[in-house]
Amino acid sequence: MRHTMRQFVVHNHAKSLKLVPYVGCKSGFAHIFDSLIPKDYGRKIYDVFGGGGGFTFYACNRFGSENIIYNDHNPVITNLLESLQKHPGLLYDEYQKHHVRSSPDYYLDVRKMDLDDGVRGAGRFFYLAKNAFSGKIRFNSKNQFNCPMRKNAKCPQISRESLSSLSNTIRHLVITNKDYGHYEDVKDGFVYLDPPYMNNTNGHYNATVPLADFVRFVSTVQKLNKVMISEQNDPDSLLLSSDYTVFTVTLHRSLQYVTQNQSQEIVAVNYAVSEQT
Ligand SMILES: C[S@@+](CC[C@H](N)C(=O)[O-])C[C@H]1O[C@@H](n2cnc3c(N)ncnc32)[C@H](O)[C@@H]1O
Repeated sequence: MRHTMRQFVVHNHAKSLKLVPYVGCKSGFAHIFDSLIPKDYGRKIYDVFGGGGGFTFYACNRFGSENIIYNDHNPVITNLLESLQKHPGLLYDEYQKHHVRSSPDYYLDVRKMDLDDGVRGAGRFFYLAKNAFSGKIRFNSKNQFNCPMRKNAKCPQISRESLSSLSNTIRHLVITNKDYGHYEDVKDGFVYLDPPYMNNTNGHYNATVPLADFVRFVSTVQKLNKVMISEQNDPDSLLLSSDYTVFTVTLHRSLQYVTQNQSQEIVAVNYAVSEQT
């Protein structure tokens, strides 16, 4: 494994394509992806831990959505992406219904409802996500959304046009709701791996991935694919082979539930990078 001196910096205000705020969202990483993902990547792209879609929106925007596969094992977030893709107008209408009724009590009522049953569920989740405290989405181990409402803030306006434009961006995207292990046997692809932060006890997601299982998955998938990994842990804990180059990323933004001014991540790739910036 080679470490490079290259330090990337991510700022909160980076302009980016995004649907909802999401813990660990990579929508501010576009300049890093521009620099590290070759223009002529010429293969399918798999976003295996897709989350809020920060990477997927980027990839669809840059390469077109025809060869991109988004996956997350949380049905609430995959249902939102599917609804955006197939029914942006209805999703907008559902959001508006909540917008006019929004209040702290109403928010708590919506939290108790189904969030993964088609466009209605997606509209509820969209409303909750847009009004969550600190802009962070959080699920407990039963996959219940459990983030409190932001205090003293008005429910944000959403534009029908921006939803429609984001929907167009992912028009041909394949969306799946599987465990990441399902992608172990893919080949000749570009596999982006942004797992829930392992060894981090903040509990933002409904589950974590055991480090040993992830390491085993990477050792298989890297044999036949280009791989890019985003992680918070020390890269040594991932037991990456000498094919990898590791870049550090300093985040000047809130990444944790407890706001941090600055934190560090890494991005590791198993292919030679001719940096474009
Ligand atoms: C760090 S987030 C990904 C953030 C994403 N890259 C973005 O830009 O929004 C990790 C995601 O992995 C998902 N996840 C957790 N365990 C998983 C598993 N076993 N299989 C698939 N996805 C999983 C979580 O639901 C969460 O959305």
